Amino acid sequence: MFVDILLGLQWGDEGKGKIVDYLAPQYDVIARFQGGPNAGHTLVIDGEKTVLHTVPSGIMHGKPVNIIGNGVVIDPVTLVREITTLESKNIPVKGRLFISKKAHLILPMHKVLDAASEAAKGQSKIGSTLRGITPTYMDKTGRNGLRMGDILSSDFKGMYQRIKEKHLHLAKQYDFAFDVTEEENKWFEAIETLRSYENLIDSEYYLNDMISKGKTILAEGAQGTMLDIDFGTYPFVTSSNTISSGACNGLGISPTKVKEVIGIAKAYCTRVGGGPFPTELDNETGERIRQIGFEFGATTGRKRRCGWIDLPALRYGIMINGITQIAMTKADVLNDFDQIEACTHYKIDGKQTDAIPYDINDVQIDPVYRSFPGWKQDLGGYGSVEELPENLRSYLTFLESHLATPITMLSTGPEREKLLFKNKLEAIA
Ligand code: GDP
Ligand code: IMO
Ligand code: MG
Repeated sequence: MFVDILLGLQWGDEGKGKIVDYLAPQYDVIARFQGGPNAGHTLVIDGEKTVLHTVPSGIMHGKPVNIIGNGVVIDPVTLVREITTLESKNIPVKGRLFISKKAHLILPMHKVLDAASEAAKGQSKIGSTLRGITPTYMDKTGRNGLRMGDILSSDFKGMYQRIKEKHLHLAKQYDFAFDVTEEENKWFEAIETLRSYENLIDSEYYLNDMISKGKTILAEGAQGTMLDIDFGTYPFVTSSNTISSGACNGLGISPTKVKEVIGIAKAYCTRVGGGPFPTELDNETGERIRQIGFEFGATTGRKRRCGWIDLPALRYGIMINGITQIAMTKADVLNDFDQIEACTHYKIDGKQTDAIPYDINDVQIDPVYRSFPGWKQDLGGYGSVEELPENLRSYLTFLESHLATPITMLSTGPEREKLLFKNKLEAIA
């Protein structure tokens, strides 16, 4: 009879997919609420890796129904490819995946406009995934967009053509060559396939009906708090509300129905694309984290920038989201480090602060670190947080106290089963 929200607390790729997949059987519904195929959520089950971009991470289990909410933007080609891949692995999708009629469609020209805008920005580019996310959300707020429900209209091609005219006009401002003919053919083919699935729903009614029937919902976030359009490191952000309130907008559920807000954070920090990253380690240590943690983008394959954990940013995320518990991932990546650093404060103009500055893109931030001795042990054999090496336990105790939030889960490897629980999660049935 409640909704829990799970979201990223850093710059994305915190391991949200893995945790959602683990928790999924305990819920009746898993619902994605924002973002689109800029997301790449990795699940590793029985040694096999699956990367989901639009499909919620509950799909690998028999029980929960999976919903793509109104706040998500959908690239039909990517979505059909994802569904086909899942079905080829004998994961049934039909009858288990439903899509909001109000979710907006990413058109081929949105990807062109994304690429053209990035190219025009030159050195100051955002580092977009080039999946057409921003132009699609711009059309949504500009009240021009096409929505999933529109594919049922007899005038769908006309609607498409009218918006494409606008896009062609917009594209003229860029010196950017393109030809969308092939993309368009694939796009319309994918639209036909999606129409044949007959799985479009009024998801706000569906979800609220589930709530009133006493069912439980896990809202799955994409990206991370520091990429939020309002509260992230603007303009180096994505174009949606990645924070907990985004789940209410992106699914049509009331804040009064939300119980737990689970924040996912790595034991260190990564970022892909441009923008400020105060604790970035542009050195051998950063490279070591990248290699051990295999920090390469699940969507674009780009190298992720790596650095130490940023506690001012985490405290900010905890505040904005109302985080009630944290799942910490990738602790195992630090197994061999003699010393681990945690940034507790920033030094700006000689003054110590733990606030995220408005002008974060323009000021010099010197992180103030606190050092912890490494635990120097493989975490493979441990069955609970209580049994973990003492150095790791003291590190976690420090984090919990500094963040004033319990760390209830600790992930010690990419595989589904590598997850330790600290306190029994009462909220999760
Ligand atoms: P998401 O976007 O938040 O779902 O995260 P990604 O899937 O983009 O990136 C997380 C990466 O870390 C993936 O390759 C996961 O398989 C992997 N991963 C998740 N949890 C752990 C963990 O605890 N330890 C290690 N070593 N890898 C993990
Ligand atoms: P998941 O859900 C990490 C980053 C891009 C870029 C910025 C804007 O897997 O955590 P966009 O394509 O949204 O216009 O790009 O946001 N970005 C992500 N970084 N994980 C993601 O998703 C991301 N989605 C977008 O690299 O810096
Ligand atoms: Mg990812």
